[in-house]
Amino acid sequence: MKQYTLITGASSGIGLEMAKQLAAKNFHLILVARSEDKLVEIQKELKSQFKVEVEYLLYDLSEPNAAQDLYKLVIAHNYLVTGLINNAGFGNYGNFVEASLKQDEEMIAINITALVGLTKLFWC
Ligand SMILES: NC(=O)c1ccc[n+]([C@@H]2O[C@H](COP(=O)([O-])OP(=O)(O)OC[C@H]3O[C@@H](n4cnc5c(N)ncnc54)[C@H](OP(=O)(O)O)[C@@H]3O)[C@@H](O)[C@H]2O)c1
Repeated sequence: MKQYTLITGASSGIGLEMAKQLAAKNFHLILVARSEDKLVEIQKELKSQFKVEVEYLLYDLSEPNAAQDLYKLVIAHNYLVTGLINNAGFGNYGNFVEASLKQDEEMIAINITALVGLTKLFWC
């Protein structure tokens, strides 16, 4: 059975760079993000350049129960995940009082809640 490394936030920036570097080292990948057009393009590019399997799952990690639902999705696809890169996230800069509560909650959901949940589910 093929072993996969799951990378959250793999559609741009650091996550995309990690995907490229791992693919070059023959790691099979599951890319997670919300932007399907970008993930399709990245999948195509990595599969054509390297001899690896590249799957993607569209997922919004700010959703309630994101970690549990993503974990269930991975199990449903029968993917064996042996590596996890909790990269998805963002930082709101500026004055705390000026950021909306919705933005703060979204940041906590992705940067903390989903990260802790995915680590617990995939690793424990
Ligand atoms: N760059 C820096 O200097 C720096 C410094 C400190 C920490 N970091 C952290 O390092 C990580 C990567 O940073 P980056 O600069 O590479 O950021 P980036 O280019 O903005 O990429 C963020 C990635 O996270 C995904 N993402 C954002 N919200 C998401 C959501 N709700 N559900 C699923 N995926 C989501 C984005 O994909 P979609 O939009 O397609 O969903 C994208 O692939 C982040 O956690 C960031 O906070 C970065």
